[in-house]
Amino acid sequence: MKKIYDLDLPTMPENGVPSNTVIAIDGPAGSGKSTLAKQLADTFKLLYVDTGAMYRALTWAAIQNKVDFSNEDALAQLLAQSDLTLDSGVKSIVVRWDSKDISSEIRSSDIEANVSEVASHAIVRKEMVAIQRNISRSTGVVMEGRDIGSVVFPLADVKIYLDASVETRAIRRHKQLSKNDSSCTVQNVQADIIRRDKLDTERKESPLTISPDAMIFDNSNLSISEQLKEITSIVLFVIERSLPKLPEKQLPIATQTLKYKFAVGGMNTLLRFMGGK
Ligand code: DC
Repeated sequence: MKKIYDLDLPTMPENGVPSNTVIAIDGPAGSGKSTLAKQLADTFKLLYVDTGAMYRALTWAAIQNKVDFSNEDALAQLLAQSDLTLDSGVKSIVVRWDSKDISSEIRSSDIEANVSEVASHAIVRKEMVAIQRNISRSTGVVMEGRDIGSVVFPLADVKIYLDASVETRAIRRHKQLSKNDSSCTVQNVQADIIRRDKLDTERKESPLTISPDAMIFDNSNLSISEQLKEITSIVLFVIERSLPKLPEKQLPIATQTLKYKFAVGGMNTLLRFMGGK
């Protein structure tokens, strides 16, 4: 008789997570998603995917090709005809458009000002989501963005919604942006963050929302290392609790969802308790 555990179980390193684990991280601009996502990917040996960089790359290409930001068909065509790649570099990811390294260009204030409009189009998002899902076919991922838990991976193993006060986020973003642009001020950056939050949360297509089964985490008063420590143990806790006795795919979806909701409900209560709320 064939033993059930001989079926395709993912590899599971000691004190780690299965190699096909999907961790979705969503949250507004400047909430620290990239830092956290990179650290978690490193810790759990998963692939880090920055989906904001993909929308930024398309915005860069639109500028180069003089494509109007409101022309969704032309934008989608530009994306379909391109070779967009993200590679893990030593400290950050390397973004290439048709082999050209555009990693620093996509962080400029010009891109910052227009990327929300580019990301608001349904056809563009459809193509991006297809690319993002495709990446996870061959590997586990830590993917960060605005719609990862809600649209890209509604059945992600762990969903985190990362947040921080708008003042904290503005100070963080200003620190990054002022490296390339000495004229930017915290006030300007804060005004731009408020404008982008509004566009990202109020747009029709896949707006930034908190999935009901996401763990909400406010890191305004936490250091990066404190955050990593807390979230690493939360991820391990959730994964261990939801690890199936049978391969996950054999469990009815309702059972998976129930188990996950139970773990997330408990974690959100714990987080509120730790945050004194
Ligand atoms: O995270 P970021 O600042 O690099 O994102 C750039 C823009 O892309 C941001 O305005 C929202 C948009 N975005 C999105 O709509 N969906 C995603 N999954 C990721 C980013």
